[in-house]
Amino acid sequence: CGIVGYTGRRVSSEVLLQGLRRLEYRGYDSAGIAIGNGDSLSVVKRPGKIKDLTEAVPDTLKGNYGIGHTRWATHGVVNEINAHPHTDVSGKIAICHNGIIENYMALKEMLISEGYSFVSETDSEVIAHLIAYNYQGDIAAAVQTSLPLLKGTYGIVCIHADEPGRIIGARNGSPLVIGVGEDEMFLASDTTAVLAYTKQAVYLEDGEIVLIDPEGFKIVDAANREIQKRIDTISWELDQIEKDGFQYYMEKEIREQPESILRAFQGRLNRDAGTAHLGGLNMGPQELINLERVSIIAAGTSYYAGLVGAYLLEGVARLPATADLSSEIRYRNPVVEKNSLHFAVSQSGETIDTLFALRELQRKGAKVLGICNVVGSTIARESDGGTYIHSGPEIAVASTKAFTSQITVFYLFTLLMARMRHMSWDQGLEFINALESVPDKVAKVLEGTEHIRSLAEKYSDAKNFLFLGRGINYPVALEGALKLKEISYIHAEGFSSAEIKHGPIALINEETPSVFIVPDDHLRDKVVSNMKEVKARDGKVIALAVEGDAEVAAIADDTIFVPKTHELFYPYVMVVPLQMFAYYMALKLGRDVDQPRNLAKSVTVE
Ligand code: G6P
Repeated sequence: CGIVGYTGRRVSSEVLLQGLRRLEYRGYDSAGIAIGNGDSLSVVKRPGKIKDLTEAVPDTLKGNYGIGHTRWATHGVVNEINAHPHTDVSGKIAICHNGIIENYMALKEMLISEGYSFVSETDSEVIAHLIAYNYQGDIAAAVQTSLPLLKGTYGIVCIHADEPGRIIGARNGSPLVIGVGEDEMFLASDTTAVLAYTKQAVYLEDGEIVLIDPEGFKIVDAANREIQKRIDTISWELDQIEKDGFQYYMEKEIREQPESILRAFQGRLNRDAGTAHLGGLNMGPQELINLERVSIIAAGTSYYAGLVGAYLLEGVARLPATADLSSEIRYRNPVVEKNSLHFAVSQSGETIDTLFALRELQRKGAKVLGICNVVGSTIARESDGGTYIHSGPEIAVASTKAFTSQITVFYLFTLLMARMRHMSWDQGLEFINALESVPDKVAKVLEGTEHIRSLAEKYSDAKNFLFLGRGINYPVALEGALKLKEISYIHAEGFSSAEIKHGPIALINEETPSVFIVPDDHLRDKVVSNMKEVKARDGKVIALAVEGDAEVAAIADDTIFVPKTHELFYPYVMVVPLQMFAYYMALKLGRDVDQPRNLAKSVTVE
């Protein structure tokens, strides 16, 4: 979910709606605003997107402070009543909540026995009534008293009609940032919501409570002690969060990859030494040399990037490495070995599964480094160091440029570790040359997208797809399948092509196309055999093959050629056509490419 609050001299509904549009990628099944007007609040809520809400907001709604919310449903179906803001019985208090209140049933029963009546099915509504229950003329104090009773996660904003201009915010697990303006102040789930108004931001930590009014902000901890915090400058520019003439953010972001990959390695290569330099690791050479194991945790696309990382670290740096789903590792009671290093990979830096896994590993004494895109995000701040990928804002829900930049950090770390262990200077240079040639090769792939579009159209009737690859390109197959299902809603599964004979080949028939990733690496001939096995069972094959590979083209029904690269670097040139394939498929099927159904980009609930 996304939350926003504004207090100042502007018409607050306009600021809130604009902020919500920026936050829409965090959830978009319903939305609402509550505006302070005289000594009352006006609440407008709608199921659907921010544009539906915008149409419902009357021009006469002119108050100067208010709060807004865009929802990704957890408790309660999508409808107007369950949309936020939620109000108390008097209608004077309004709250927006991001997160899950786990003990809401017990609180609800207590409040009902005290005479409070509930209207929605949400866990969040309980917060509004609880604050009303504790209200004695000071909204900040009422929030302060109520928070210790809440179990679960929250980012909250709250207003009271009798205290115009004041907004209270609190965070525990779900992000909240203060936008600092001149005679106006903002609260939001992330900085994109305030970037049009200010570049000054203060990030809240868990347990902190903030009061804003047009003149300023005051942050206190749970014991009501005032906390002084630094004001940061947001590094993103407004034009980076615009569509820039593209129909969808996703295409814009896919096409940015030659530059975004470059930004991920720029300034981090040292040709003289034939190695990489990653300053943010906060680790000296001895600590690096002593490393015996690397464990990578992440979710979704970031997890697949982690799998590529694990292949590289084991295969090239000869460092045992694994990638795990953060949601699983957290509850698995993981073993933290000595001389081990953990990476938490997260584009948003807010995914709660990954954040909670990071905290659990840290409690066990692990050193956890972050690989994040969003500067100042929670994972970036709570990790023990790390590396930003510098992709620039990624707004389409389906992640694309973050993936190629995340793997770039793993290429760099692999080079660094390999050079400290056994890799020669010559081999280091060869690795650097290969990495430096990636942006041009990706640009070349992006020149040939018309052919990919025609293939997407040709296969758009298929109901199921298989994506198959091996070795370092096995995670790329998983990512290709994930992209297709996320945005086109076509069922797709990724497998190691070696594995299909152990089951998935039963799915093959004329109607189930298989997308084979066939680089000219040491596994090529084996993948070619797997392709033939599929063809022998009447399966249609789309191959991603290296330019000039006539043999593969002769076996496949259709072929997408990619430029030849160093054998370790194929994930870049293989994943980009798969991103475009999913994109064109979704376009052809008329899907909402940037905001696919049921999904959210930044999932801050478990
Ligand atoms: C959500 C998004 C995915 C993303 C995953 C991890 O599920 O829809 O696109 O890969 O979260 O997000 P993160 O920000 O941690 O990389």
